[in-house]
Amino acid sequence: MSKQDQVIVGLDIGTSKIACIVAESAPDGKLDVIGIGTHPSRGLRKGVVVNIESTVESIRLAVEEAELMAGVDIKSIYTGIAGSHIRGYNSHGVVATRGSEVVKEDVTRVIDAAQAMNIPADQQILHILPQEYIIDHQDGIREPVGMSGVRLEAKVHVITGAVSSAQNIIKCCNRCDLDVADMVLEQVASSEAVLSQDEKDIGVVLVDIGGGTTDIAIFIDGAIRHTTVIPIGGDHLTNDLVVGLRTSAREADQLKKRYGACMVELVSADDQIEVPSVGGRPPRPMPRQVMAQILEPRVQELFELVKAELQHSGYQELIAAGLVLTGGSSLLQGMVELAEETFDSLPVRLGRPQGVGGLVDVVSSPVYATGVGLILYGQRYRQHQKPIHNSEKHMFSKVWKRMRSWFGDTT
Ligand SMILES: Nc1ncnc2c1ncn2[C@@H]1O[C@H](COP(=O)(O)OP(=O)(O)OP(=O)(O)O)[C@@H](O)[C@H]1O
Ligand SMILES: [Mg+2]
Repeated sequence: MSKQDQVIVGLDIGTSKIACIVAESAPDGKLDVIGIGTHPSRGLRKGVVVNIESTVESIRLAVEEAELMAGVDIKSIYTGIAGSHIRGYNSHGVVATRGSEVVKEDVTRVIDAAQAMNIPADQQILHILPQEYIIDHQDGIREPVGMSGVRLEAKVHVITGAVSSAQNIIKCCNRCDLDVADMVLEQVASSEAVLSQDEKDIGVVLVDIGGGTTDIAIFIDGAIRHTTVIPIGGDHLTNDLVVGLRTSAREADQLKKRYGACMVELVSADDQIEVPSVGGRPPRPMPRQVMAQILEPRVQELFELVKAELQHSGYQELIAAGLVLTGGSSLLQGMVELAEETFDSLPVRLGRPQGVGGLVDVVSSPVYATGVGLILYGQRYRQHQKPIHNSEKHMFSKVWKRMRSWFGDTT
């Protein structure tokens, strides 16, 4: 097999940056990251493409950089999808098995039955993620094939998204001569990279705090139970600093990354920073605590929204492994401490991408959680992929067919 055939590429089209990560399958089955390209993202708002031309340009530059570093020609990518248009539902289906033992075909039929639900006309299914199977009232079964029984029930988490948003992403990629091998909900991708199997088994909440949105996924008993998007991210923190410090957005973002903190008590009262002014005025000295005073209430507000979402989900009592924070904004000083305070007794940790080799130093930042997750996801499912083109009339029926093939092969 040529190097070209062994590469898997993740393209994270975020609100703040586009990250293209190229990985190669090592002989031992591990993935080695061999190239990375990043470019500031222009053309998205709150995780959704709003300007095709600008997005295409940003993608092209990130992909070119990654191609140069990896020494490969990128033709096909796994990409993410996010935004407030995403909906997650729990659903279930029941079928009678054809024989006295569950076979792959029964599993396909029960998953088919579970996704038969009313979906608004402008939404289509992106993922159908099995949670558990129940055979003749025995619940908690993860691998039903081969088990005896006559009644097979499946509980699944169905994720839908706006058709137009998905089409715009595909359009942007196709314009850059890239085939979309698959489109993955961003928090599903991030969870591949930052959560351990143990955490997913005992119950965990992934909180990916990006630039435009905060994406949440709750895992219990090894399966995804709840997904949601809060339309607040690091850009809101930057905007608060623009107003509070009276400086430009670019400078505010730099200051936030360098000196920002979201807990006043973590910053020494003696620390001073220089705030660049606008309109040619000289920079002003300011106590660093002022930044924390601006950022703390906004981050607190965000965590309160996450907490409300947890309560609303009904899984609040079942997340023994607590919260894992990832995404670029999780790097803000004090995030873990403030989350621990807000979520009372729950453990909180920072989630850095894991499970790959190669250029690990670079990709181990939470900024690359989705990008690394996409290549891990791609490796897991790639034998089934056929690229999705925008011109295909029934794009989602293709996705669904592919998903069915995973159930057939993985169960
Ligand atoms: N060291 C840091 N400290 C604080 N904030 C940071 C740091 N590094 C990055 N950020 C912030 O993280 C945000 C970008 O995060 P990320 O790259 O995960 O977003 P994205 O994936 O492009 O956006 P989204 O997922 O919302 O579409 C920006 O608001 C940026 O200012
Ligand atoms: Mg992101």
